Amino acid sequence: MQMIEISKTDQLDYQTNEAYKSLRTNIQFSGEDMKVIAITSCMPNEGKSSISMNLALSLAEASKRVLYIDADMRKSVLVGRYKMSHANFGLSHYLSGQQKLEDVLAQTNVNRLNMIVAGPIPPNPSELLVGKRFAELIRAAKATYDYIIIDTPPVGAIIDSVIVAKQCDGIAMVIAADEVSYKFAQKAKAQLEVAGCKIIGAILNKVDMRRNSRYGRKYDKYYKRYYGSYYGAGYSGKEEE
Ligand SMILES: Nc1ncnc2c1ncn2[C@@H]1O[C@H](COP(=O)(O)OP(=O)(O)OP(=O)(O)O)[C@@H](O)[C@H]1O
Ligand SMILES: [Mg+2]
Repeated sequence: MQMIEISKTDQLDYQTNEAYKSLRTNIQFSGEDMKVIAITSCMPNEGKSSISMNLALSLAEASKRVLYIDADMRKSVLVGRYKMSHANFGLSHYLSGQQKLEDVLAQTNVNRLNMIVAGPIPPNPSELLVGKRFAELIRAAKATYDYIIIDTPPVGAIIDSVIVAKQCDGIAMVIAADEVSYKFAQKAKAQLEVAGCKIIGAILNKVDMRRNSRYGRKYDKYYKRYYGSYYGAGYSGKEEE
């Protein structure tokens, strides 16, 4: 098996780390048939790759065997962003029949986390994903891993994420706060639903906790309730409203 060294993972602050833990818990409590999860969004740049990678790391940290698949073959950012040592072979090699599955799988320096990188950009990513080799990959991976997390391109631009999602147990939509209109998000949701994809939820990303008073206040209240009232000096034994 190939070996990939991930030498720079995101430095997460306390709040972000807690958000990933809660996302992980939500997925774990979604049932044992929720193993293959695709991450998408309406538009580019909403945070799919960051979130899917951190989710995979978070699940591996919780002692789960995880396979991360970079299915955004048109625009893979992982190798550069996480300063990964380069894998020789990736998804496009496997889907096009040039390599066997075991030759594109990569072990990482993170315990229990294996990966398949995107590989070189093929001329026909959507066609490759429709082919039977992708379905075979998912079937084989399900037997080995507890979770398979798949990064995909945005729904609004190309059909790839819909194709991937059809092979998955569920798809989660990343929505960047203040970047996507309600209408556009609804349209992307409808597109996935018409194709028969199971949407397991939305992940609101890029929320500015200081500027956005709506989320900020809610967070303050939550924070105060659990750490101020319960554990702080002013603990009264009563839950604060
Ligand atoms: N919560 C966040 N707060 C601030 N910046 C973020 C957050 N999430 C992602 N970013 C930044 O936004 C940019 C896009 O993130 P990322 O590449 O994960 O998005 P993407 O949806 O995968 O993009 P693409 O559609 O191009 O594949 C990156 O520079 C990333 O560091
Ligand atoms: Mg991406």
